[in-house]
Amino acid sequence: MINRRKFMKFGIYAIGGTMAAVSSIALARFAIGPSFEKTRSKWVEVELGKQPVDSGSFQGVVLEYETKEGWSTNVARTLVYIKRTTGDEVVAISAGCTHLGCIVSWDEQQNIFKCPCHDGRFDADGNVISGPPPAALKRHPAKIGDGKLLIRTETIPYVG
Ligand code: FES
Repeated sequence: MINRRKFMKFGIYAIGGTMAAVSSIALARFAIGPSFEKTRSKWVEVELGKQPVDSGSFQGVVLEYETKEGWSTNVARTLVYIKRTTGDEVVAISAGCTHLGCIVSWDEQQNIFKCPCHDGRFDADGNVISGPPPAALKRHPAKIGDGKLLIRTETIPYVG
C-alpha cells in the first residue's frame, strides 16, 4: 500500500524528471539544431538596369547572397545572364556550364553562349548546340515587382 508521503515523493520525482527531460530536449535542439540548417534557394534583388526591352541581348549580373550550412555562414556569388523580353518579363540563365561548371560568356555577334573550357556552345535559350555539355544551361526563376528585379538563386558558384 502506498502512503501519502510516498505518493508525494513519487509525484515530485515524476514532475522533476519530466521538467529535466523537456529542458534537455530544448537545450539539445538549441545546441545542435543549427547544424542541420542549410540555405537552399532564395530570392535575391538585383539592379534592374537600363537594358532595353526585347533587345535580344543579355546582361551579366552577379547575385550575391548569404548561405548557411550548419554553423557556417558564407557569402555566395553566382553569375546570371538576364534579358528583358517584355516590360515585366525577364529570362535569367545561369552562367554555369552543365559540363564541368566553367563560366560561359555571352557572344553578342554570334548570339550564343560559349564555354571557354571545352568549347561548349549554347543558343540564346541556353540549349546545347555543340560540344560536351550534357544539358541546357539552367534557368533561374525571375520576376519584376515594384520596379525591382528578383532572381531565385541556384547553387552554382561564380569564381571571378
Ligand atoms: Fe563547359 Fe566543358 S565545362 S564545355
